[in-house]
Amino acid sequence: METLVPVHPGLPLLGNSLSVARDPLGMFTKLHRQYGRIVRISIGGRNQYMVFQPEDVKYVLQENNRNYVRSPAFMVLKRFLGEGLLTSDGDFWRKQRRLAQPAFHRQKISLLAETMVQESAAWVNELRHLNLSRPVNISQSLMDVTMYIVCKTLFSTNVEGRLTGLSHSLETLNVLANRTLLSPIKIPRSWPTPNNIRYNRSRAQVDGLIYEFIHTRKQSGERLDDLLDMLMNAVDEETGEGMSEQQLRDECVTIFTAGHETTAVSMAWLIYLLALHPDVLARLRAEADAVLGNVPNGGKSPGLDSLPPVAAFRSMPYALQVVQEALRLYPPAWAMSRMALNDDQIGPYRIPKGDTVVVSPYLLHHDPANWPDPDRFDPDRFAEGRDKDRPAYAYLPFGGGPRLCIGNQFALMEMQILLTFFIRAFDFDLVNAASIRPKPLITLRPNHPIQVKLSARG
Ligand code: HEM
Repeated sequence: METLVPVHPGLPLLGNSLSVARDPLGMFTKLHRQYGRIVRISIGGRNQYMVFQPEDVKYVLQENNRNYVRSPAFMVLKRFLGEGLLTSDGDFWRKQRRLAQPAFHRQKISLLAETMVQESAAWVNELRHLNLSRPVNISQSLMDVTMYIVCKTLFSTNVEGRLTGLSHSLETLNVLANRTLLSPIKIPRSWPTPNNIRYNRSRAQVDGLIYEFIHTRKQSGERLDDLLDMLMNAVDEETGEGMSEQQLRDECVTIFTAGHETTAVSMAWLIYLLALHPDVLARLRAEADAVLGNVPNGGKSPGLDSLPPVAAFRSMPYALQVVQEALRLYPPAWAMSRMALNDDQIGPYRIPKGDTVVVSPYLLHHDPANWPDPDRFDPDRFAEGRDKDRPAYAYLPFGGGPRLCIGNQFALMEMQILLTFFIRAFDFDLVNAASIRPKPLITLRPNHPIQVKLSARG
């Protein structure tokens, strides 16, 4: 039996674009409350089916994933990322994913985590040397350190001292991509508008860095055990050919961008939450002290000998819970969308071929049906055994099904390590707590950079 999908009323031509652009989280939350399971809205002239229930999300992302490909919204990302892992589809994507996957195996992550430990120690050490009587823009600092980490671990490249302007370029690309996504009017890329000029300049800066990684490695002829080596030396089984320079660029830019910005934003939220919850912070420190000893080894000396072994970070379950809970409240990938390749049926509802299905981890993570008192920061929600109380797809900061984030274990490890170094090295207070709100761009960022007042501990 087919049931008609409820349609949320909108304006002629513009549909629901304006209300979504004005306040996406507020609008989505309202739609969820009003319709409960599914609703059709229209954004940018396209029909979008929002599905709110974990079982339906599981159906789209996992059970019938072959019917759902990247939606037209991904064109905005494609413009910058090209045909990389995040934006490609079908057999091509499958082949590329198979190629990249070994770089993210668990044993591999343990090796990369040694670099994460060194970089985290160096990071807190650098922070200690700042003038701590002034507030520190921790959002920016995290963007830099996560960028070093992704470059060192996956491209074996040191970008220290060469980041001037790069974060700003990425921010520009994020803001402009978001604007294009929500605007009902599409301006051709070739027009020399101020936004197109800013976009091209920012993109050229990121490309410059990535091509430098590729060319330096090619010229050196060096073989290293990293992702860049794997991508550069991959050979197509059928044609016997390697990746084109453009393809290499697309994969590297994708990993570089997806591999640091989300982690940096999540860490900034995490520090914000901890500053507001001293009880959680105290428990975290107690756990870290029990595992690492209570001399705050916050990186006074970044020498390897004095650094904790990677295994220690795997024996801190509470730190992992805290990270998971921060990703619940503020999932960087707050909405994801897919296009139906063929007509489909979600429960009794028909989804026509070519229309878009939208899934929002933010809404799923704030649904009181699965998360009592959903706005409260409570890492015990992730204590052992507690997940049996909720459906699997009630929590998906890293997506689900075959398109699950390839870097999820990398990111969780990195966040635990950065977090542990930071809380052991510093006491911290928020400078601008009252004005902080989530701002949903392509990723869910704080509306202002998080500023903290640091004082060195121990
Ligand atoms: C807290 C950090 C992170 C979060 C919240 C996050 C979230 C996500 C989500 C939700 C997706 C799926 C998007 C979709 O299905 O539409 C995704 C895909 C992806 N992520 Fe992450 N990510 C994080 C860190 C990383 C890291 C560290 C890397 C690489 C080093 C990475 C690389 C990728 C790639 C390449 C994809 C595309 C995978 C595919 O479709 O095969 N991410 N990420």
